Amino acid sequence: MGPIVSEITDRYRKGDPLSRSVLVTGGNRGIGLAIARAFADAGDKVAITYRSGEPPEALTQAGCLAVRCDITDTEQVEQAYKQIEEKHGPVEVLIANAGITKDQLLMRMSEEDFVSVLDTNLTGTFRVVKRANRAMLRAKKGRVVMISSVVGLLGSAGQANYAASKAALVGFARSLARELGSRNITFNVVAPGFVDTDMTKALTEEQRAGIVEQVPLGRYAQPEEVAATVRFLASDDASYITGAVIPVDGGLGMGH
Ligand SMILES: NC(=O)c1ccc[n+]([C@@H]2O[C@H](COP(=O)([O-])OP(=O)(O)OC[C@H]3O[C@@H](n4cnc5c(N)ncnc54)[C@H](OP(=O)(O)O)[C@@H]3O)[C@@H](O)[C@H]2O)c1
Repeated sequence: MGPIVSEITDRYRKGDPLSRSVLVTGGNRGIGLAIARAFADAGDKVAITYRSGEPPEALTQAGCLAVRCDITDTEQVEQAYKQIEEKHGPVEVLIANAGITKDQLLMRMSEEDFVSVLDTNLTGTFRVVKRANRAMLRAKKGRVVMISSVVGLLGSAGQANYAASKAALVGFARSLARELGSRNITFNVVAPGFVDTDMTKALTEEQRAGIVEQVPLGRYAQPEEVAATVRFLASDDASYITGAVIPVDGGLGMGH
């Protein structure tokens, strides 16, 4: 029996609904794409948002719904949810993954660079989480996973805007975990270290080597390694976990 079939059989055995409506923001590439694939492989109904270009054919061929949406625009978020609800029903699992960097040393960082990173990574997450919660409250269940970063707690020179936005997600998620725990909605944070995606391809070879030297496991993560943790947090096995910050960082952030 293949892994997908045995997984589906397992879920039948546990009496779980076979397929949930899952939304992954920024699911067209990098970590978001790996997360979308992981849920789709497990038999969930997956919708992704993408902001630019076209969604990968492999995802749309696998039956995933791709919706164009810039999470800095509340109206686009609303329209995206309407499309998803029409096709897959209310979102039961939300993965707030979309994020950007605009790295610069403080003295050279413009207010625009600071505000736009916060608007995408923090306020953008607020927009999609708030909209998802409407249906989750009605259903009296829901799973929300936010993608933060090891640098949110560790700090990173040249990334004050990014680190501030990622640290803020922890306070945001933990507040919601307290506010909505009684409604059976969990809010957790995954804090990846350095992952092999377009975001880190922007680094020079020298910067990459310097980072790897500090990682106890001595390598970058693959997006699939982050996706596996996200899927766990959305699974029944994580039913009593909320307000947690789970590092997937090869040991880089230990103690923070
Ligand atoms: N790579 C790492 O080492 C690393 C480490 C820790 C945390 N993270 C976090 O993990 C998440 C994914 O990172 P990644 O490495 O996969 O990044 P990536 O390859 O640069 O992809 C970023 C994704 O976010 C989307 N996005 C950005 N701004 C958006 C907006 N305003 N509205 C809607 N979508 C938007 C992008 O859409 P477009 O394709 O349209 O631009 C893309 O799908 C981010 O939150 C990032 O901060 C990454």
